[in-house]
Amino acid sequence: MWRGGADVAKFHEMLKLTAFATSHQPRSYVNSLVRLHHPFSEAERLEAALKAGWNVFQFPSERLCGGDLLSDSGTTTLTTEQFSALVLGDESYGSNWGYFKLLEAMESAFGIDFNEWEFYLFHQGRAAEHALFTQLTGENLIIPSNSFFDTTRANAEANRIDARDLVSEELKSDPRYPFKGNMDLKKLERLLEEHHRQIPLVFSTITNNTAGGQPVSLANIRDTRRLCDKHGIPFFLDACRFAENAWFIREREEGYKNKSVAAIAKEEFSLCDGFTISFKKDGLANMGGALAIRKDSRLVKRYPDIFEKLRDHQILVEGHPTYGGLSGRDIMTITIGLETVIKENYLRGRIGQVEEFGNYLRQAGIPVVEPFGGHAVYIDTDKFFDGTKIKKGDFGGISLTALLLLKGVRLCELGAFAFGTYNPETKKETFPPHNFVRAAVPRNKYEIQDLFYVADCIKGLYDRRDSMPKAIPVYGKEKTLRHFKARFELI
Ligand code: F0G
Repeated sequence: MWRGGADVAKFHEMLKLTAFATSHQPRSYVNSLVRLHHPFSEAERLEAALKAGWNVFQFPSERLCGGDLLSDSGTTTLTTEQFSALVLGDESYGSNWGYFKLLEAMESAFGIDFNEWEFYLFHQGRAAEHALFTQLTGENLIIPSNSFFDTTRANAEANRIDARDLVSEELKSDPRYPFKGNMDLKKLERLLEEHHRQIPLVFSTITNNTAGGQPVSLANIRDTRRLCDKHGIPFFLDACRFAENAWFIREREEGYKNKSVAAIAKEEFSLCDGFTISFKKDGLANMGGALAIRKDSRLVKRYPDIFEKLRDHQILVEGHPTYGGLSGRDIMTITIGLETVIKENYLRGRIGQVEEFGNYLRQAGIPVVEPFGGHAVYIDTDKFFDGTKIKKGDFGGISLTALLLLKGVRLCELGAFAFGTYNPETKKETFPPHNFVRAAVPRNKYEIQDLFYVADCIKGLYDRRDSMPKAIPVYGKEKTLRHFKARFELI
């Protein structure tokens, strides 16, 4: 077994595996003075990767070189308009000027009227989810969703809520289906009929990050709402990528070709009782999150003091409601971000870049989920390692992300390891339905050459997949949220 610094010969094996040339070179690393002054070698990256236990989250970003596709969250490059607005940030403790600008920007982007909604600002999306889920008291609660994101699920489960993923069958069965992120309405209907008393709300994630970043159609949002209405249950959105979802609706859903993305986004919000959002995605900001609930929502009937309790929670853990854990500067970047993100030229460039990256990967023969997601391209790990010695329990997705670190590239495993669980009593792994590695593209950050470089590196390893090592978790496989904490050895 390869044990860190002691076994130098094996290091050479790893470096040999990644010693291939690429057709494209990374370019955006020249934006970083650190990287310009000291372009790290593969051996230096290897040293850092070993120190990090091959855990991508613990790998120092300065040693990457132009393809940090770990997340699209909070990694956006601010626009000049956002930088200008940032300087106007009002750092008052109470009722800062930017807060009112933010309310206006949200009303305008989401088509909502804050006279009719309660609004809670948080420092990021998960804080909003945590606040919401902690208020949902009751026995054996279930929240159905098209899919929960990892931290959203963890927040629900931490509050003893059964987070139930009901993603559409088409994600697996129909390679070209345009709305693979949809809720499975049949499964939802059955669950609502059998367990509606245990269901405090239904939650739809747009776009569906866990399910290949795939969009959800307005028809599906509307039908989900209809089923909720039938059973008197509130319907919430996880609206992190509401604008990208709206773009796909305009591109793919019948009857929306001539509607503006802005109008479609408003229609999405018109159908929900409430939503959580992380402004680190389609807020085009580096920080920020929110929870908003209609004042007349059915949630209030079930939990009559929910607004008061949420307000107390917010003040206890985030600060005054008008800054909610954010600086005035952060707030200003969100106000402009929300204006920009629904502009069609922005979205055309954004989604077009992800698509171009995806097409390049597909043409290189890499098994990717199609159609491509809005914020990321997902590699199908099972297909990637099909025919090799690497089976699901060998966590090939972790090996792939680990070795890519040596090329200065960072992706994220969102599959057998991130969403799987290990039972120490039975000593068995349970695997999720999908096994992906995600290449999430930060907004406004990379040139296409950077993404082609990433794709060349993935291709280089794909060509060597028969020689790729297994990833053995040596620490943390039994832990919750294990992908953030675990350490691995590659053998
Ligand atoms: N919901 C979805 C669909 C998300 O993708 C995320 C974050 C959150 C909620 C939580 O928001 O990070 O502001 O607390 N997703 C990031 C990612 C981390 O990489 O996809 P947050």
